[in-house]
Amino acid sequence: MKHQESAESSRMIAVTGANRGLGLEIARQLARMGQRVILACRTQPKAQAAAEVLRAEGLEGHPMELDAADEKSIRAFADRVRREFGRLDGLVNNAGVALDGGAPGKWSDADALSAPLDRVRATLETNLYGPLLLCQEFIPLMRSHGFGRIVNLSSGMGQLSDMNGGFIGYRISKTGLNVVTRVLADELKGENILVNSVCPGWVHTDMGGPQAPRTPAEGADTPVWLATLPDGGPSGGFFRDRKPIPW
Ligand SMILES: NC(=O)c1ccc[n+]([C@@H]2O[C@H](COP(=O)([O-])OP(=O)(O)OC[C@H]3O[C@@H](n4cnc5c(N)ncnc54)[C@H](OP(=O)(O)O)[C@@H]3O)[C@@H](O)[C@H]2O)c1
Repeated sequence: MKHQESAESSRMIAVTGANRGLGLEIARQLARMGQRVILACRTQPKAQAAAEVLRAEGLEGHPMELDAADEKSIRAFADRVRREFGRLDGLVNNAGVALDGGAPGKWSDADALSAPLDRVRATLETNLYGPLLLCQEFIPLMRSHGFGRIVNLSSGMGQLSDMNGGFIGYRISKTGLNVVTRVLADELKGENILVNSVCPGWVHTDMGGPQAPRTPAEGADTPVWLATLPDGGPSGGFFRDRKPIPW
């Protein structure tokens, strides 16, 4: 069954990895603005828990299952969005992992010479191939409505202009994600589908760690801005604090 069409000013925006950290905060800020938010989380219970968090704050979010590292799950998610909503105006590719070195989810400065290839591959599945496939699934739907905003959560660690050692899998994934941004922005030139990368800064989340100086609210500001750009806004850019930064 299709949900009622939203008004032009209220867009349907999916945020991946919306159950904690930056994803939950991006979803919260979008919901506060009156946007309709899809909470796309690795499991349905996680998505439902995120919807509960927002509901307790008087906000709404549609809980949906999406494993960003699993092609079948991505295709099933896209089918469900097409079936239930018939549109997607914004896609925030936020779900991400940093698996280099130690146990999954733990930061470590393992260098390229010793990085286990299976962890590099697993990092690329979530941080690079997942977002690319989500774009492939949703851009035709965005095209059919003549509107789209795609935000790729990248990182300063993916900047070639400031590349250092360590975290090889994570760095490749974010530099690669920036390539996705640039290539899609060029292929979509002249269409009202804007594609941008963002570095949220070093943010206090499970990934960023407790010593990170930025709050999730500060880190979410630029991704939310990019997800709600007006027509004629930038495309193919890399931003931090709403300003362009070098690739
Ligand atoms: N924090 C920083 O300082 C920082 C800096 C630069 C860039 N970033 C980027 O910002 C994004 C969010 O980071 P964060 O700090 O909020 O990280 P986080 O606290 O570790 O949260 C990561 C989120 O991604 C989800 N996720 C991971 N793999 C997934 C998968 N296969 N399918 C669906 N969801 C998945 C997690 O879900 P589960 O709960 O199911 O694991 C969680 O919701 C990432 O792309 C990260 O690289 C963060």
